[in-house]
Amino acid sequence: MTGLDLSSPVAVVGTGTMGQGIAQVALVAGHRVRLYDAAPGRAREAADAIGARLDRLVEKDRLTAADRDAARARLAAAEHLTDLADCTLVVEAVLERLDVKQQLFRELEDIVVEDCLLATNTSSLSVTAIAGALRHPGRFVGLHFFNPAPLLPLVEVVSGFATDVSSATRAYETARAWGKTPVACADTPGFIVNRIARPFYAEAFAVYEAQGAEPATIDAVMRECGGFKMGPFELTDLIGQDVNESVTHSVWRAFFQDVRFTPSLAQQRLVESGRLGRKSGQGWYDYTDGAERDEPHTAEPAQAPAYVVAEGDLGPASELLALIREAGIPVREDEEDHGSRLVLPSGGQLALADGQTSVEFRDVVYFDLALDYRRATRIALSASQDTSQQTLAEAVGLFQALGKDVSVIGDVPGMIVARTVARIVDLAHDAVAKGVATQEDIDTAMRLGVNYPLGPFEWSRRLGRNWAYSLLDDLHLRDPSGRYAPSLALYRHAYASDKREGSTS
Ligand SMILES: NC(=O)c1ccc[n+]([C@@H]2O[C@H](COP(=O)([O-])OP(=O)(O)OC[C@H]3O[C@@H](n4cnc5c(N)ncnc54)[C@H](O)[C@@H]3O)[C@@H](O)[C@H]2O)c1
Repeated sequence: MTGLDLSSPVAVVGTGTMGQGIAQVALVAGHRVRLYDAAPGRAREAADAIGARLDRLVEKDRLTAADRDAARARLAAAEHLTDLADCTLVVEAVLERLDVKQQLFRELEDIVVEDCLLATNTSSLSVTAIAGALRHPGRFVGLHFFNPAPLLPLVEVVSGFATDVSSATRAYETARAWGKTPVACADTPGFIVNRIARPFYAEAFAVYEAQGAEPATIDAVMRECGGFKMGPFELTDLIGQDVNESVTHSVWRAFFQDVRFTPSLAQQRLVESGRLGRKSGQGWYDYTDGAERDEPHTAEPAQAPAYVVAEGDLGPASELLALIREAGIPVREDEEDHGSRLVLPSGGQLALADGQTSVEFRDVVYFDLALDYRRATRIALSASQDTSQQTLAEAVGLFQALGKDVSVIGDVPGMIVARTVARIVDLAHDAVAKGVATQEDIDTAMRLGVNYPLGPFEWSRRLGRNWAYSLLDDLHLRDPSGRYAPSLALYRHAYASDKREGSTS
């Protein structure tokens, strides 16, 4: 099946931020587009705004003047909803309220032709619930674009309980014909991206609330060690704390207050105080004129250790051994495997974050998970008050000798990147097991929708089948609230590997 015929007019109802973006996408793809908005004059203003954006594309040589003129000629503002009668697709982007959307679709159903596809751009309401208002819910689908729609390629195509396969396919093919990358998903809270991305924010806020590190340090570690484009604090300041918090709340409520999605008290305080981020001049950071930029904690230079002893397999951090040797520090490999650690001359140990706390062991410093230890420019270390100063100094000196900035954080189990990635991997496995989407679509959605450097399944394969499960299991033991309880799907994944490898542990 292919997408919509280009001769078919497309309607966009609700011409605010998203409606304008979606209309521009359909228009540039070659459709005639009708804009309708309940607020008088708003559709006309939206048409002018889209026209101005097309002008800028021409200035930037991304659209020819002739194509711009043709597109403008295909765009029209509708006075009445009844002007949409001959459209074969209506995309709704009105206020995020169930009663408003249901009422609109009830009216539309009486106006449009029988084979008109009806789509909602809702980000937090149930597609199934909106369709509850329709006589023919089979033709109703979610088409979830991301902001700004003309730039971001991802579109989640959401099938409600009653959506016909043919309607979902038509929506999917249409999004593809519009130059987007569609992914198919079931109608569950947050769809793919807004569900699986929750720990990216929540774990950073939790580390901050646990006095583990300041926002600037956590952001720097997530970027420079974790490989994320932006840290959670700076990103939520950009999105708006109110907007981000409201998505978190809606997913948490929709999952019957599942503890894994619990909102952050610190973020709530921020919202309550009107510190909404860049748009209000203050959020986690201060954007007022002349405000000083918060700098991440970066350790003072320390002496590199004379040698290290490698015990066992460092798993996802194995590449460190080559880097240490390249830095001219001898690595002795210990035949006896006492665990997966580097032993420092002080007798203290350095271990990859694993969900345990430093205080539980004699003289252990943990280091965080890096996307790529060679390319990482910063590494986080966690130590407890019992860690010897010499061990910590040797650990700092070791990573500095590899050319990394070092941030020392509190004794937070699972540290920053490791706990975040483990939880994202877990939610992704859980989502596949619950039929939300395929592994491939989840990877695509997280890379394109929120710019992650790797999809959760790509990450999971890289880290090894047991890695996320074992880290979360350790965290769950230390925080039995259920927040870190690994899902049955992740358990199955890890257990299957044990059986396959013949292990009985
Ligand atoms: N803003 C985002 O980042 C984003 C991203 C993805 C999805 N969404 C979803 O897209 C939808 C629109 O969001 P937005 O940010 O563009 O909102 P917006 O406030 O910018 O625009 C909404 C528009 O809908 C109009 N409207 C309200 N009720 C109407 C009705 N009954 N009939 C016709 N027009 C009506 C308003 O006049 C307004 O112009 C929401 O469902 C939202 O959840 C938003």
